[in-house]
Amino acid sequence: MRVKKAVFPVAGLGTRFLPATKSTPKEMLPLIDKPLVQYVVEEAVASGIEQILFVTGRGKRAIEDHFDHAFELETLLEDKGKTAELHEVRQIAEMAKIFFVRQKQALGLGHAILCAKEFVGAEPFAVLLGDDIIDAPVPCLGQLLDVYESYRAPVLALEKVPMVNISSYGCVRANQLAKRVYEVLDLVEKPAIIDAPSDLAIIGRYILTPGIFPILEDQAPGKGGEIQLTDALVRLSKQESIFGCQFEGLRHDCGDKLGFLKATVDMALKRDEFNGAFQDYLRMRLCR
Ligand code: UTP
Repeated sequence: MRVKKAVFPVAGLGTRFLPATKSTPKEMLPLIDKPLVQYVVEEAVASGIEQILFVTGRGKRAIEDHFDHAFELETLLEDKGKTAELHEVRQIAEMAKIFFVRQKQALGLGHAILCAKEFVGAEPFAVLLGDDIIDAPVPCLGQLLDVYESYRAPVLALEKVPMVNISSYGCVRANQLAKRVYEVLDLVEKPAIIDAPSDLAIIGRYILTPGIFPILEDQAPGKGGEIQLTDALVRLSKQESIFGCQFEGLRHDCGDKLGFLKATVDMALKRDEFNGAFQDYLRMRLCR
C-alpha cells in the first residue's frame, strides 16, 4: 500500500526556544522568510504525501492559519497586481489536504502520534518532526519511502552523530544490510554515552505501520515522564522487523538555537536573491 498520509506532531512546548515560543509556535519560526513547518510540508508533498494531520496544542493556531486561505491578504495582493506573491501565498493553502487534531496535554511524542489513530486507520503512514530541516538532493522522506517499498515495514531516518551528542537522541543497535540501509535490532531513548549501542541517532522522519497504535495505547511514561515513541518502537520491534535509512543530506536541528542559526546562515548563503551580499558581510564580520 502506498504511503499517502503523514502526521506532524506539533504540540510540543518548545522550551529550548523560550521566550520566542511563549506565544508563537516553534514550527512557525522562519528560516529567512518561510516558517520551519512549511519546509517540512514541502518535503512531505515532494515525497508523494497527499494528506497531512497536524497534532496541535494550545497556542498553535498560527499553523492552521498558515495553511489556510487568507482572503484579505489575497484580495489586497490581487488589487496591487502582486501576482508572484499572490501565487506563493495561495499555493501554501493548496499543497495537500490538511487536517488537525488537538493533543490536549503534551504527554510526549508517542502520545501525540496516538492522537492520529483515527486519521491513519489501517494504512502505513509517515511521521515528520518540524525541528529537523533536511536539505537533501532527494527529499529525506522520499529516501525512507524507497526503503519502505523494499521491506514493507517501519523505517526510521538515521544519522551518525558525534558520540558526545548521542544522549540527545534516540539511538539504535543495527545491522547494516546495504549502503545506507539497516535492520534495527534495538533502540534506546537518549542513552548515556556509555550505554549507547552505536553512534546512529534517530532523526525526525519515520514510516510507521498501524501496529504501533495498540502499543502506544498502553505505553508507560519513559524518559522525562513522557510517553516516548522510542519505547513503543522497542516493543514494535518484537512483533515486526524495523529498518533504518541513513539518509543522504544535511540536517539542521532547528529546535536548538545554535542549529537554527546554522540553518539560517546555510539557507541565506544558498539564496540567489542576496547575490553574494550576505557572504561578503559574513567574511567582513569574521575578519574584524
Ligand atoms: P521535542 O522533544 O523537541 O519537544 O519534541 P518540544 O516541546 O517541541 O521542544 P523543547 O524540547 O521543549 O524545546 C519532538 C517533537 O514532538 C512534538 C514536538 O512538537 C516536536 O515536533 N511533541 C512533543 C508533541 O507533539 N507532543 C508532545 O507532547 C511532545
